[in-house]
Amino acid sequence: MSLPEHTQVLSDSAAVAAEAAALILHAADAAIAERGAFHLVLAGGRTPEAAYRLLAGSDADWPNWHIWYGDERCLPVDDAERNSVMAARAWLAGSAIPAAQQHPMAAELGAEAAAAQYADAIAAVLPFDMVLLGMGEDGHTASLFPGQSHAENERVHAVHDSPKPPPDRVSLSVATISSARAVLMLVTGAGKRDALRRWRAGEKLPIATVALESKVQLLLDEVAANA
Ligand code: 6PG
Repeated sequence: MSLPEHTQVLSDSAAVAAEAAALILHAADAAIAERGAFHLVLAGGRTPEAAYRLLAGSDADWPNWHIWYGDERCLPVDDAERNSVMAARAWLAGSAIPAAQQHPMAAELGAEAAAAQYADAIAAVLPFDMVLLGMGEDGHTASLFPGQSHAENERVHAVHDSPKPPPDRVSLSVATISSARAVLMLVTGAGKRDALRRWRAGEKLPIATVALESKVQLLLDEVAANA
């Protein structure tokens, strides 16, 4: 199970952020031209933050953007560790994207309630136009972790015992992610080298499983790629 065919190695994390922002803006223009709207799923963690800051400084047809989340941590709505709070601080708080078109996961309600609510909310808009994903040092993506299994028929999973705190989370399923028109994966830093090596060696890591099923583009920086 080698890396995706569309894998780009860029000089550093700033170059990855710049390429990611450019690809997202291009996908938005195409989606809005074709369908009048752009439905983008955000990744959590730290990696995408620089790309979000670039988007905050960009000019786009914001009133036609709709923001969704790939996963969320079961924490209070204003907790700094929430993916929605990171995205708000890096980009969305000052954005012209209408608040009614920004769809955080209600993870503060608990994993099961939030997963059920989000599964209903996304049903009418699938397939997403683009899903952004990061990768953890163990090869997880969104909140799909190695060794954890979920019901195949779920659009959104309730996640417990996550090895990456907090233990309770909500995550889009592999099927929901891979139904998207495009998946853009951002992986940077020396900490990801081992997971990339395992991915190249054919390990069935969650990110590898998603990549196999998706129309995916992977952006790496040289530090991560030199496994
Ligand atoms: C989360 C993220 C998670 C993240 C990876 C990489 O809630 O933690 O959704 O999947 O993308 O763990 O995180 P970094 O970008 O911080 O390395």
